[in-house]
Amino acid sequence: MSGSNFRQIFTLSDDELTRVSRNLAVAFSQDPLAHALLGEWPSDRSDLAVDFFKAHISAGLSDGAVYAVGEDIPALLVAFGPGKEMNDQSPEWKDVISRIPGVNRHWQLNEFKVKYENFIEQAYGKDCQHDSWYIILLGVEISNQKRGLGSMLLREMQHVAEQDQVSLCWQTTTAPEFYEALGFKAVGEVGYLSRSETITQRAYISRPSP
Ligand SMILES: CC(C)(COP(=O)(O)OP(=O)(O)OC[C@H]1O[C@@H](n2cnc3c(N)ncnc32)[C@H](O)[C@@H]1OP(=O)(O)O)[C@@H](O)C(=O)NCCC(=O)NCCS
Repeated sequence: MSGSNFRQIFTLSDDELTRVSRNLAVAFSQDPLAHALLGEWPSDRSDLAVDFFKAHISAGLSDGAVYAVGEDIPALLVAFGPGKEMNDQSPEWKDVISRIPGVNRHWQLNEFKVKYENFIEQAYGKDCQHDSWYIILLGVEISNQKRGLGSMLLREMQHVAEQDQVSLCWQTTTAPEFYEALGFKAVGEVGYLSRSETITQRAYISRPSP
């Protein structure tokens, strides 16, 4: 496995962005939320899913922060700092959104977005996430999982938030066991009704030490 030097990434070549996004599409192949949002399961054969992850990373490079470990980026985290948020009107996001089937866009607006906003306020308090560091993506390439890379990225991100003396917020639909193993307890939980199942999302927060 490549070395595990933690660093912030400021640019990625098109080839690197595609390669990392394909790896993330495979890593998230069982994410029910991505499935409900996109109308297809993420995989490296899904151009829509690959571009969905590209749009997250590009948003982080533009307005947020992208952190990685390993020379060839086997693990990556995208986050936004206090007062910043993902611009879903960027050309990348507009392109992805235009390719999502109407039924899934309808679900995103009328089921997901409505419940998500309420859930976040209940879990953290009004405006807390907006005033914190907020992780929008954490993923480890599948053959490098369970080797400590994901926890290293999360711990380093905690340090970044700690240095800024703000909280770090994130949610998961896929990996509550991972966060439990690291000692985090969910501070909120929501269920979204999709056509095939109820998708459970849990909210976590790490507050700075006083
Ligand atoms: C979840 C994920 C980020 C964890 O990263 P990782 O590098 O594989 O995890 P680590 O090796 O740092 O594991 C830390 C601990 O969590 C445990 N763990 C990791 N993934 C786990 C899982 N899916 N289920 C149960 N425990 C898990 C490990 O056993 C380890 O505990 P231990 O030290 O007591 O053995 C990674 O597996 C991943 O990208 N998964 C797919 C995408 C995803 O779910 N991302 C998170 C979205 S919020």
